[in-house]
Amino acid sequence: MTLIRNPWTLTFISAAVAAVTACGGGGGMSTTPLASATISTTVMDGLIQNAVVCLDTNGNGLCDTAEVQGRTDANGQVTLTIPADQVGTAKLVAMIGTDAIDADTGPVTTPYTLTTPVGRHGVISPLTTMVQAKIDADKAAGKTTSADAAATFVQTALTLKVSVFDNFIAKRNSNADYKKAGDMAHGLAVAAQESNCGWSHSATSTTGASSSEKESETEAAHQNEAHIHSGLLDKLGTVQSVDFSHSACASGMGKSCDDYIKTQVAPVSLATCTAPPTTSTVPTTPTTPTPATPATPAGSAATGKTLYAANCVMCHGANPALNANKIMKGANSPSNILGAISSNAGGMGMLKTTILAQQAADIAAYLANPGI
Ligand code: HEC
Repeated sequence: MTLIRNPWTLTFISAAVAAVTACGGGGGMSTTPLASATISTTVMDGLIQNAVVCLDTNGNGLCDTAEVQGRTDANGQVTLTIPADQVGTAKLVAMIGTDAIDADTGPVTTPYTLTTPVGRHGVISPLTTMVQAKIDADKAAGKTTSADAAATFVQTALTLKVSVFDNFIAKRNSNADYKKAGDMAHGLAVAAQESNCGWSHSATSTTGASSSEKESETEAAHQNEAHIHSGLLDKLGTVQSVDFSHSACASGMGKSCDDYIKTQVAPVSLATCTAPPTTSTVPTTPTTPTPATPATPAGSAATGKTLYAANCVMCHGANPALNANKIMKGANSPSNILGAISSNAGGMGMLKTTILAQQAADIAAYLANPGI
């Protein structure tokens, strides 16, 4: 396969082809098929069977029904046939549900998602996911970081001697450096699952739900995953220090090793755990009802939304739920927002006269309910 070095060139060519096709008469959408290409990938923590892998054309971090997708086989592999012009421009996402099986640890009990940056399709692993998380975090801070630079960052943080894009499973039995890459990947996978909000999502587990329910559940799951990925980026050093030669891991990856990892790596603390949409089941009344009156001053989420768009979007992105630059720390926490401003985090000091207690309360209310 020819590696496309400059996706833009190709995008322009394909736009031109599309325009010609559209004006070419015949009234058909079916003429002049663009060249297609196949890309193969392997999903791994251990090799993962039955993961849904897709080309994330719209970049929302999800596998939508309109996107080319497939499921991995027992070797964690899947091959997708995609328009040739998308090989160099879209990233792959793997949704691992409770219908997936990890060759190292067995049936997956807590769902999670993995991804890999544009143009790096060979492997989708927790390591490649951290590369994309680094790219996303930098992008939210207004910085463009290449996949290579982000990979170096992750590799360095985990003190790995091998590329994070390599297939560590293929080489871990004969090479200690790849064994370590596999250990780090598993540490991250366990931390990601441990950080799950305690409710179950899988790409196919929503049998019986309406398609809109499925969609919003998927969206909610994704918001949590985005928080988890960016939170894990801050934990690379902690994962790096986990001792995989501990007796709990002596017999390989398994429950005792996973439990040990959990004692070493705290879950990502999610400012808000996006709850799945309520189902028809009537919820039991909580024993401790949430107080009706929040701390003063009360915030208006609607006002907060407007304030966010005017003052925060440029650095924290249009969708706060993606937690760019830790914005979700401000959910329900005006004091955190005001603290970030007074400590001039990321240059936020300039907001000192604009965002006062009331505005911070409004934005905090909006962040706690970004879906409004
Ligand atoms: C000029 C860019 C910029 C603007 C504008 C900005 N922020 Fe930030 N903010 C940042 C950066 C960068 C960080 C991350 C600093 C870090 O990584 O510790 C941050 C961090 C935060 C945090 C997390 C603080 C913590 O405890 O780690 C909150 C909450 C926050 N911003 C809220 C807001 C709100 C609300 C607005 C709009 C009123 C806003 N920011 C506007 C750049 C900005």
